[in-house]
Amino acid sequence: MSWNIDLSCKRALITGAAAGIGRACAVALAEAGTSIVAVDVNEKGIQQTIDTTGSGFAVRCDLSRPDDVESMRDRVLAELGGIDILVNCAGIISYKKGIGAFPIEEWDRVLDVNLRGTYLVCRAFVEGMKEQHWGRIVTFSSLAARVGGIEVGLHYTASKAALIGFTRTLAKECGPYGITVNAVAPGVILTEPVKKQIQGREADYVAQIPLRRLGEPEDVANAVLFLSSSLSGYITGSVLDINGGMYMG
Ligand SMILES: NC(=O)c1ccc[n+]([C@@H]2O[C@H](COP(=O)([O-])OP(=O)(O)OC[C@H]3O[C@@H](n4cnc5c(N)ncnc54)[C@H](O)[C@@H]3O)[C@@H](O)[C@H]2O)c1
Repeated sequence: MSWNIDLSCKRALITGAAAGIGRACAVALAEAGTSIVAVDVNEKGIQQTIDTTGSGFAVRCDLSRPDDVESMRDRVLAELGGIDILVNCAGIISYKKGIGAFPIEEWDRVLDVNLRGTYLVCRAFVEGMKEQHWGRIVTFSSLAARVGGIEVGLHYTASKAALIGFTRTLAKECGPYGITVNAVAPGVILTEPVKKQIQGREADYVAQIPLRRLGEPEDVANAVLFLSSSLSGYITGSVLDINGGMYMG
């Protein structure tokens, strides 16, 4: 699907690239010609992604650890000199429990990866992008942030809602440097954790979706590809809903 968008000469870094939507984004961006860096805590998974794309390289990194993010940035800058496209897809999907039914440490872990991890990675690369006077940053929010968690918990929903404010504020800072910053808000997308969670109830969801199907990782990757390209050059600070019409903002 990516043949109309030519991103050769661009360098793209995708977090959460070991599986699901992040892997689909890495494949789409590689097909569009970018040099890709696949980043994830799951080393085997990112290597499989690179085997699939046939180009680029993988860097293991736990986004909740600032020292890991710094080492990852140093390696990327040493190999590529900088990046043009940053896709912040890594995240922990945590399901609903009552407000008192999960330990504070679980709240911290979800916020650390989903929100602080995105902040750390953006912080590591934004100044370099500013110097280049061109960049594309995509963050990952969620349908949960738009309507309240359906199956996911308070901590997950809070992290994804906070990312919308983060995205818009970073968009204001980066706009004068030719860098766009947008969020995607996927609905119910068939990746491993979601398949497991909704098993046996797929038809209930399909009935609530005007387009009458669940989402595929490629549905999100196609939107990310658009937001990574020059075609989206006048769009910044937006939240793109990718949910088959389940929520229309
Ligand atoms: N699948 C959906 O329905 C859906 C809906 C809305 C939003 N999202 C968001 O899309 C993104 C991708 O979700 P997915 O469904 O592909 O999930 P997934 O679990 O398949 O992929 C998430 C990836 O993030 C990586 N990751 C987790 N913790 C990390 C850490 N500390 N450091 C580095 N990498 C880490 C995992 O190893 C994994 O490869 C997430 O941000 C998720 O919140 C997904």
